[in-house]
Amino acid sequence: MKFYITTPIYYANDVPHIGHSYTTIASDVIARWKRLNNFDVFFLTGTDEHGAKIAAAAREKNKTPQDLCNEMSAKFKEAWKLLNISYTEFIRTTEQNHLISVKEIVEILFKTGFIFKKKYEGLYCLECEKFYSQKDLDESGSCLLHKTRSIVQSEENYFFRLSSFQFELLKRISNPNHKEYIEIQPEERKNEIIGKLRLGLEDISFSRIAVEWGIPLPFDKKQTVYVWVDALINYITGVGYITDDAKFQKYWPVDVHLMAKDILWFHSVVWPAILMAVKLPLPKKIFSHGFFTLNGNKMSKSLGNVISPRELVDKYGIDAARYLMVTFIPFGPDGDISWRELTSKYNADLANNLGNLISRTIKMVEKYFNFQVSRITVNLQLARKVAVVLRKSFAESMDDMQFHKAAEVLKGVITLINRQIEIDAPWKLFKVDTKKLSSCVSSYLQAICIIAIYLLPFMPTSSERIWNMMGGIGNINETAKKYFADMIIPEDGFSAQQTKSNMMEILFPRIEK
Ligand code: MSP
Repeated sequence: MKFYITTPIYYANDVPHIGHSYTTIASDVIARWKRLNNFDVFFLTGTDEHGAKIAAAAREKNKTPQDLCNEMSAKFKEAWKLLNISYTEFIRTTEQNHLISVKEIVEILFKTGFIFKKKYEGLYCLECEKFYSQKDLDESGSCLLHKTRSIVQSEENYFFRLSSFQFELLKRISNPNHKEYIEIQPEERKNEIIGKLRLGLEDISFSRIAVEWGIPLPFDKKQTVYVWVDALINYITGVGYITDDAKFQKYWPVDVHLMAKDILWFHSVVWPAILMAVKLPLPKKIFSHGFFTLNGNKMSKSLGNVISPRELVDKYGIDAARYLMVTFIPFGPDGDISWRELTSKYNADLANNLGNLISRTIKMVEKYFNFQVSRITVNLQLARKVAVVLRKSFAESMDDMQFHKAAEVLKGVITLINRQIEIDAPWKLFKVDTKKLSSCVSSYLQAICIIAIYLLPFMPTSSERIWNMMGGIGNINETAKKYFADMIIPEDGFSAQQTKSNMMEILFPRIEK
């Protein structure tokens, strides 16, 4: 089975920050979760490189737009490498393949009469790359999101007949039984979209005459394709539209478009309408998560509070940074983060809860068995208990993209093991009942191996280290996939029940505030 997931393609006017990282890490966690479940995953991310905003940023920096895009897309790639993002492909909208597919789509729309020329005057926010009507702006005429004054643009350009899709879109978005149902999540945002759709749709600008930095319209070279249309088409270019039909047939339609609420409208209304117009299958799911603020403030250059992925990793390490980002606030609603609270969560979940379980178990293996627990006793009882919980509750939460809930389930099973250790009281068995002691310690090792498997999507490197520390047999990734294929714990367990003295590392050192 295939699974195709996308992040938004980020504007190449500036370097990545943890807002971009948020969506990208979440997509990566899902991609890894699906791979674990033996899906053939295609995970697309990239950079949005055309339009007035990029051109203005380049001018300001005294660079050509192309040079700026080369530089910035390299920065995004670097950040995703740092965060261990397992994307299949990184698309750039200035690539040749993308020009070909945009031209094709625009050509079809022109021939079928979905685009037409019209004189237009409107208020434009450069930051959003979007026209607004007066009622969408505040009293001073500024965009609500960016607080930047919208400028009047008066041009003759091409328009897309978005208005003619109102009812077709409403049916596809609101009726789960529709054969082309588009599932929008979370429910509240879907309802907002439905509400807005019911009010009616206006045709939208499809090209710009004043913006040179863009893809020229094939039938009117004086105009360039509106950057949002150009950008949305990346989702089909990325899986081989026009250039690789087999790939396109295999992966399109997309299983999940992931983004924040700021750009849900473009994804759930404009994009499906374009696809309907050119008769291509529609996205199956569109998930829009919330926006997070930092200590109650929007992250912005002018406030000087923008956090880079590097800062996050320097503080917590790669895996912990990934884990914290996606579990700190529920995925869907808006939220607020702060260094202070991130550190508390790090200490509570990782240094204390998970970290302590691992280190106390390893210490038992060392102290009671000199690193080698007899294989005569393999006790899988606890592992089975843990597996039952994870298989159901963890999997459900992950499938619903409720990462914070999945993390709670993990915490729950760690508590379960800790409680079992208290009940067993291995320290009382030492030198009294070696057989029972080895059976107990065996059960902890086997159970923690399962936890390591389920942690893989969040913490790919630490999971592997936990696996090795617990004496996990073979490669964790391969074993995990095999386990997910049949959900049967091998008779001899996952752990060889031995650890090495050089493996007694502290995975998540406590951070003092
Ligand atoms: N280029 C367009 C997207 C085109 S997709 C066909 C764009 N780019 S962007 O660089 O502005 O990225 C916006 C996205 O970045 C949001 O939708 C979200 O995924 C992510 N985020 C940026 N800041 C964020 C927060 N503070 N909180 C949550 N998500 C954040 O829009």
